[in-house]
Amino acid sequence: MNHTNLQWWERFQKYYTEFPELGLAIDLSRMNVDEAFFAAMEPRIQKAFADMDALEKGAIANPDEKRMVGHYWLRNPALAPTPEIRQEIESAFAKIKDFAGKIHSGAIKGAGGEFKNFLLIGIGGSALGPQFVAQALGNPRKDKLKPFFFDNTDPDGMNRTLAAIGKKLDRTLCIVVSKSGGTKETRNGMLVAQAAYEKAGLKFGQHAVAVTMFGSELDKYTIANEWLERFPMWDWVGGRTSELSAVGLLPAALQGLDIDGLLSGSKLVDSATRVHNVTANPSALLALAWYASGNGKGTKNMVVLPYKDRLELFSKYLQQLVMESLGKAHDLDGQLVNQGICVFGNKGSTDQHSYIQQLRDGLNDFFVTFIEVQKEQVGEPIYTEPDATSGDFLEGFFLGTRAALAENDRESVSITVTEVNAATIGLLIGLFERAVGFYANLINVNAYHQPGVEAGKKAAENVLKIQREILAHLKAHLNQPFTVQEVAESIQKPDQVETIFKLLQHLSANPSRKIKKKAARNPFEARYRMV
Ligand code: PA5
Repeated sequence: MNHTNLQWWERFQKYYTEFPELGLAIDLSRMNVDEAFFAAMEPRIQKAFADMDALEKGAIANPDEKRMVGHYWLRNPALAPTPEIRQEIESAFAKIKDFAGKIHSGAIKGAGGEFKNFLLIGIGGSALGPQFVAQALGNPRKDKLKPFFFDNTDPDGMNRTLAAIGKKLDRTLCIVVSKSGGTKETRNGMLVAQAAYEKAGLKFGQHAVAVTMFGSELDKYTIANEWLERFPMWDWVGGRTSELSAVGLLPAALQGLDIDGLLSGSKLVDSATRVHNVTANPSALLALAWYASGNGKGTKNMVVLPYKDRLELFSKYLQQLVMESLGKAHDLDGQLVNQGICVFGNKGSTDQHSYIQQLRDGLNDFFVTFIEVQKEQVGEPIYTEPDATSGDFLEGFFLGTRAALAENDRESVSITVTEVNAATIGLLIGLFERAVGFYANLINVNAYHQPGVEAGKKAAENVLKIQREILAHLKAHLNQPFTVQEVAESIQKPDQVETIFKLLQHLSANPSRKIKKKAARNPFEARYRMV
């Protein structure tokens, strides 16, 4: 792509598309696309359009799990395939608004008075969307409830969050989010939170609500322990596309964010991305550009660079949406394909002082997705130079980086939105959800299951089972020292010796487990005993 400025201008006029009704523009001029590529892909994108139509009408679009895929119905319940589903969505949203209203008015209170914080406990699709939206739209001075998150099973991380909440636990509402209701990290987070409430002399159930599928383990727990409220999740909404279900809308409503705006932005982009005409369909443009860049094999990584601090977590959110949806071993015909697109990124211009050096001069194994926000800020700017604001610099750095990359044959897509508000956040979520759906269709993979995530969950269960056996063995032989090899043989797991080595090191590093280590010159001959 060795072009003069005027040649770039020519390409820009050809591949820059504005969608005024959405307040959105997509620029593919710096991607390796041309008319021949779009013409060759036309039959395949038409098939993707038709399959997406069928999905929205309730087809079993997730064949492995034999499930419908219905996140698009959330923002337009009239499109749901049955009156029952429509009614469930509408009544869930009414319940969210009603509940948030009661929390804000103080009709429902914590033991210490009106709720001032919420602590959302969830992981993956049950935390990334809420975290992204809380940061994108929140305002620490105006938020009705201040958001906190447990998004991992790291006890130190949870303690840090609890320390930040401090004495206000009695005015903190816990929102436990788990579609399946059985995810161990989330369950651990809930139990750690519950212990903290109990230690403070508080009844946890009086400060807790759940978002989960009815009948799940978590659901039963909430009933047995008389929690304040339960909100539904459905098997036809995937974790990573659940932001506009109760998973995302409940915390957003509690924070005081504009959930109608979120829904209306996504509804609007859904309508625009239903059209069967590539040039008028922003999600199709994105999916095709990704295909062109990585030859439909994902050979190029996607670097997400929003030039706006509020969108920093969008990179993390997209990492899950794209990688969990597209990163698949087999295609829908059972062929081994090992597909995916690697996603990373934070924000500009900060990242210009970090990895952009490599992007410009190192491996050419990526394309950038710039997100440009036209409106700088609310209120009057400060001029940091006689004729320029800080926001002018941000725009300058975006344009400069885009040009510097293109000069060196590095591809980029630029997405422009007018400002960061609830509608544009809903729009960006919907835009990428459908782009991922189209791209998955082009490469023939199931975007709506996550066998790799399930595999990781099972592997962790096995590790904990081995740990239990180690502890039982050492307990039965109190004060008797064993090498790792001896423990492995005693519990009849000689092939698990490496895992046992790691577990014994972990246990002995944590005094409460009462495992003492006697180091040896050779680390594999260290001895461990329970005291
Ligand atoms: O997108 C997904 O499906 C996953 O990331 C899940 O959201 C994650 O594993 C958490 O699952 P759950 O909501 O069932 O606790």
